[in-house]
This record gives sequence, C-alpha cells and structure tokens, in this order.
Amino acid sequence: MSAILIDGKQVAKDIKAELKQKVEILREKGVVPGLAAVLIGDDPASATYVNSKARACEKLGVFSEIIKRPAETTQDEVESIVRELNYRDDIDGILVQSPLPKHLNEFAVTLLIDPRKDVDGFHPHSVGCLLLGRPTFRSCTPYGVIELMRRYDINPTGREVVVLGRSNIVGKPMAAMLMQKNKMANATVTVAHSRTADIAGVCRRADILIAAIGQPLFVKVDMVKDGAVIIDVGINRIEDPSSEKGYRLVGDVDFDACVEKASFITPVPGGVGPMTIAMLLTNTVQSAGRRAGLEE
Ligand code: GUN
Repeated sequence: MSAILIDGKQVAKDIKAELKQKVEILREKGVVPGLAAVLIGDDPASATYVNSKARACEKLGVFSEIIKRPAETTQDEVESIVRELNYRDDIDGILVQSPLPKHLNEFAVTLLIDPRKDVDGFHPHSVGCLLLGRPTFRSCTPYGVIELMRRYDINPTGREVVVLGRSNIVGKPMAAMLMQKNKMANATVTVAHSRTADIAGVCRRADILIAAIGQPLFVKVDMVKDGAVIIDVGINRIEDPSSEKGYRLVGDVDFDACVEKASFITPVPGGVGPMTIAMLLTNTVQSAGRRAGLEE
C-alpha cells in the first residue's frame, strides 16, 4: 500500500488565504502587520530565503523590510539595528537570518530581540515559555509540522513519536511541543541523534517519525514501522547530473522506498518546507493582532 502524501504546499496556501482575511481586518482597524528581516553578508541561500519571506508578506498585505548589510558588519552595528527595530511601532516581527557571519555572536543578537517581536521563536523567553506549556511564539518549522498533522487529522496523543535530530531550531522545540499536555501533543517523545545507540531500532518504535537530522536519505525503509507517519524536515542538495541544475533536493528520508510502508508521508520538496514561511506569517499576524488588542 502506498502512503497518503501530505501536501504542505497546499496547506501553506490555505493558511496564507486565511491569514489574508485576518490582515484585511487588521488593516481596517489601521494596523498594518510589519515584518523586518535582517540579512548580513552575501550567502545566496539566505538571500533567497529572505526574499521569499518578503514576497510572501507582500502577497498578504503585510509590510516587510529587508535590512541588508555587508559581511563585515560589526556586532555593535547588528545590535543597534535590532534595538532600533524593537522600538519601531510599525514592526511586529523581527527576524535575523541565520547563519550570521562567523565573527558575529548570534546568541547575543537573539537575546536583544524584544520577545514580543520574536516571530522566529528563537529567543530564550519564547523557548522557555514553550517548554512551560505557555507558548508565546513557536519556532516556525516544528510549528508547521504540528499544523500539518492537525490538518491531516494525525493526532499524536498517546503515540510513540521519535524526533530524529536535536537542533535548537527543529528537534528540541519539536519535542517540547509534542510532550505538552494539550491537543495535538500528549505524545511519548523520544529524541534520537548522532550518538544514539541502535538508532534504527529506536526509529522502528515510532508511530510518528520526524526526521530532522540533516543527512540525505538517512531513514531507510528497514527503520520504519509498518503504517508509520513519516514527516521529513530535511532539505538536502545531492548531485544529479541528469538534472538541469546538476543537483536535486532530497529529504532525510529515502522517500521512494518508505512511501510503500508508511501511512502518511511528506514529500521533499513540497512537504514541510513551505510551512515554515506560512507559520512565520502566522506569528507575525498574531503579533500584529496583539498590537491591535485583538489577541492575547
Ligand atoms: N535560517 C534557516 N532557517 C531559518 C529560520 O527559520 N529563521 C531564521 N531567522 N534563520 C533561518
């Protein structure tokens, strides 16, 4: 039997259509949601991400501003940019595109972001509140995974969920979300990583397997339980001379084999990927809703 494909592209489109209506209501009240993205250096992938975030804002009627500075920008300069954005009334969300050039202290910059504008959910305040079950802003990619599961009626309650990977952006917040005592959570969560003994055996226990380990095609079919739900967060470039670009995108999961064994699976591209921006916009509109006094 072949798994049901989870269409993140379509879900992201639906979410954006819902947000567009919320933005219209906010604009009628005189509140235009605003997102500022800080881009330091000339990493092409980062520039692509930031530009697509700005384009997505534009389509929804959300104001966006990209603050672009060269790679040589100093720590003091980056920190003053963030301080200024903290004070601006027209900015509801601040995003500092990661990774920053090596000479900059990214954690110190994150600490400076006003937690009320931390739409990436990276500030320790946001992370702590999430862990305590009182989320303010949730990290966008794991939040997107939860939203995908919710819209496909995949309830993690009481189920064995294995999160592969322990990054601050995905693995850790993903586990924190799933272990909470609330709807779309209540799971028995295991976090597996590069030092886990018998990682294949751990993965085989999973009713829901979330792969965010950053290794192309890491999850093989013999690591998957029959009928498991597979969520693939990975986006990896692998060489492919047959493609025009010379490469193609694959996830952390051997999709072609696993699709025959899983009950649900996310493709790469078109699965989790499009959800990150949709949830960033969700957080930004939520922040603007708070400014307008419409949301807690
Ligand atoms: N770099 C890769 N993903 C992200 C993200 O979601 N937010 C930020 N700020 N930087 C990133």
